[in-house]
Amino acid sequence: MKKITEGFMLGAATAAHQVEGNNIYNDYWAQEQVPHTMFNEPSLDAVDHYNRYEEDIRLMAEAGLNSYRFSIEWSRIQPEKDAWNEEEVEHYRKVLQCCHDNGIRPVVTMMHFSSPKWLISMGGWENPEVVDLFAAFCRRLVTELGGQMEYVCTINEANMRLQLASLMKDMMKRMAGMKEAAPENGKEGAGDSESQVQVGINLNKENMMLGMMECAQAFGLENPMDMHTFVSQCTPEGDILVMKAHEAAKKAMKEACPHLKIGLTLSLHDMVALPGGEEDAQKEWDDEFLHYLPWIEKDDFLGVQCYTRKFFDENGVAEPPAGSARTQMGYEDYPRAIADVVRKVSERFHGDLIVTENGIATDDDARRCQFIREAADGLQKCVEDGIPLKGYLYWSLLDNFEWQKGFAMTFGLIGVDRKTQKRYPKESLRVLGSMAAEK
Ligand code: BGC
Repeated sequence: MKKITEGFMLGAATAAHQVEGNNIYNDYWAQEQVPHTMFNEPSLDAVDHYNRYEEDIRLMAEAGLNSYRFSIEWSRIQPEKDAWNEEEVEHYRKVLQCCHDNGIRPVVTMMHFSSPKWLISMGGWENPEVVDLFAAFCRRLVTELGGQMEYVCTINEANMRLQLASLMKDMMKRMAGMKEAAPENGKEGAGDSESQVQVGINLNKENMMLGMMECAQAFGLENPMDMHTFVSQCTPEGDILVMKAHEAAKKAMKEACPHLKIGLTLSLHDMVALPGGEEDAQKEWDDEFLHYLPWIEKDDFLGVQCYTRKFFDENGVAEPPAGSARTQMGYEDYPRAIADVVRKVSERFHGDLIVTENGIATDDDARRCQFIREAADGLQKCVEDGIPLKGYLYWSLLDNFEWQKGFAMTFGLIGVDRKTQKRYPKESLRVLGSMAAEK
């Protein structure tokens, strides 16, 4: 394995709600607490990164990593619509400073799935007001902390809402018997559908409707259909609203801090068309990526996130090859997907690319080491071929809260005993760190 070139950002990623603990003012916390929740377990203290960030950042630096992607929890800073919590701003100032003190370059995400509870109560990500509210939050935050930042991702996986909408539409069709490929034909049940999006969701919980009613109530909404969290399906207008929020936030942050490099991240699959599946594979690529281009092509960079590949045949989404290894998330263990996606993205997006997430959920760390080596080999070839790939940030630094799937999905380079919150760096942390260029 060759060393990655100097200046290349090599690191790991986390998201506030998945690691910090006690994000009690956000929409996830509210949904985790209802009696018939969709979540396997609540996040509670998570992995206490809020209090242990110094240790976590130091472990990263000691292993040789040079970059850390983390998110700012909007609901900590604005627990109420008209509140602004300076103490929490100071917390993130310390996190940023800690990165710099350890020679780690911060990559900051302004919105990684969790939203303040009050935002969802007012219509969330389908209410056009979200555009200005998000931009105002971003402007004020970077006015205070932007001096310590360089790369900023506005919105994580800005295409996730559309992917969920299409998944739900498919499920509804199947349930209504409108699609030939019914689950009993060996195609797929709800459990398999879950693995078609690269995020921890449950579609098989009992009492789902009851759970949704309880959540709506928690947000003060009468109708569960009015509950628009970020990780929920969207309308076509809602899809564009996310782009408008990105555009407005970018403009606001550039005005306040012209030095910032700003982009968003997308959840992308390595699409594979089997005979007869060409049209569907192309349509999915259009939905996941191409139709966003007019909104993002002038961005300073694009964050590419990919975990696996997706097959299409004449019946639509098809299974991976028989016998292929699966990760804890249910999708195919295919480390080469990330390089394939980077290549494909670079054909149409001509700015800098950063892999802002890529990883494997497994309890077998040797497999993770192998995954990282293969992914890095493919990416190194991309760089050698002149693709402007500037970094690789593995998901995730720590074993953490995989949304509705809870803590059982272990993506981390560092294990955590949640009883003691003690950290256990894994061999994979060393393997990733050993790829850093010699100083
Ligand atoms: C998200 C992360 C998530 C990861 C693994 C991405 O969808 O950005 O929050 O934990 O994938 O599923």
